[in-house]
Amino acid sequence: MTQKPEPSTGPLAGKTALVTGSSRGIGRAIAERLARAGARIAVHYHTRAEDARATATALAGSGHRLFPADLGQAEERRRLVRSVLSDMGGPHILVNNAGLYRLTPLLESPETVWLKDFEDLLNVNLIAPAHLAFLCARAMVEGGIHGRIINIGSRGAFRGEPEAPGYGAAKSGLHALTQSLALALGPHHIAVTAIAPGWVGTDMAKAHLEGPRGPSLLAQSPLGRVARPEEVAALTLYLAGEEAEYATGAVIDLNGASYLR
Ligand SMILES: NC(=O)c1ccc[n+]([C@@H]2O[C@H](COP(=O)([O-])OP(=O)(O)OC[C@H]3O[C@@H](n4cnc5c(N)ncnc54)[C@H](OP(=O)(O)O)[C@@H]3O)[C@@H](O)[C@H]2O)c1
Repeated sequence: MTQKPEPSTGPLAGKTALVTGSSRGIGRAIAERLARAGARIAVHYHTRAEDARATATALAGSGHRLFPADLGQAEERRRLVRSVLSDMGGPHILVNNAGLYRLTPLLESPETVWLKDFEDLLNVNLIAPAHLAFLCARAMVEGGIHGRIINIGSRGAFRGEPEAPGYGAAKSGLHALTQSLALALGPHHIAVTAIAPGWVGTDMAKAHLEGPRGPSLLAQSPLGRVARPEEVAALTLYLAGEEAEYATGAVIDLNGASYLR
């Protein structure tokens, strides 16, 4: 049996990190990376309890806990942050990673379906991170915590999402929210940043990457590939650290030069 490393003295030792949507994909890679740096992880999930348990079990260190919540529901968001606070303290780090992707092409969708999808995308991808930031930032200020809030945005916010306009709009709003909160929370030494990835090789992207458009999606980057979840996690680790305070307000592209602003 392989021994799990015990990072009792990493740069994030003693800190609690709430990572939303860490049952799989990018969130899981972020949870793993922050745990290796010593953080205790609040592993949040929605429907995939088994996967979330597997994430928590695989994490280095100890003191990690599981928290289910549908982030589309305001009361569940409140309950999530209350539970993390009472069970684990902090949170010192909030990673707003959970997200929903739905194709909602304007001219091909019935109005009611399109509107419902658009509302769901804004709710889960923008209102939920905003509400969680509100709740966690208040706890950070009350606790005198010089915290970090990291939002996982998207390249689609800049490049446009013709087939998923609700997704693009929500991510664009998330980037703007990042900048507003960086200004509002700077005096409290809470740094707020966003990462804007292009395609990342996760289950969310699988159907697209393995479908007929796959080769052209890979060719968007001169590297001829998409990002690995671990690459997003490595940047998240930097943004979660002490040295990233001055990065506050940054929306950082991580897209393999597939779209240069
Ligand atoms: N993959 C890409 O190409 C890509 C590119 C740019 C940006 N991003 C962003 O990166 C983030 C992670 O993406 P991913 O590819 O890792 O996605 P993923 O594999 O589909 O995982 C999504 C995560 O979000 C959670 N989630 C979804 N809806 C939720 C809800 N209503 N309430 C609570 N949790 C919910 C899921 O929980 P359960 O599994 O437990 O249901 C899951 O843990 C997202 O914000 C996404 O927009 C991804």
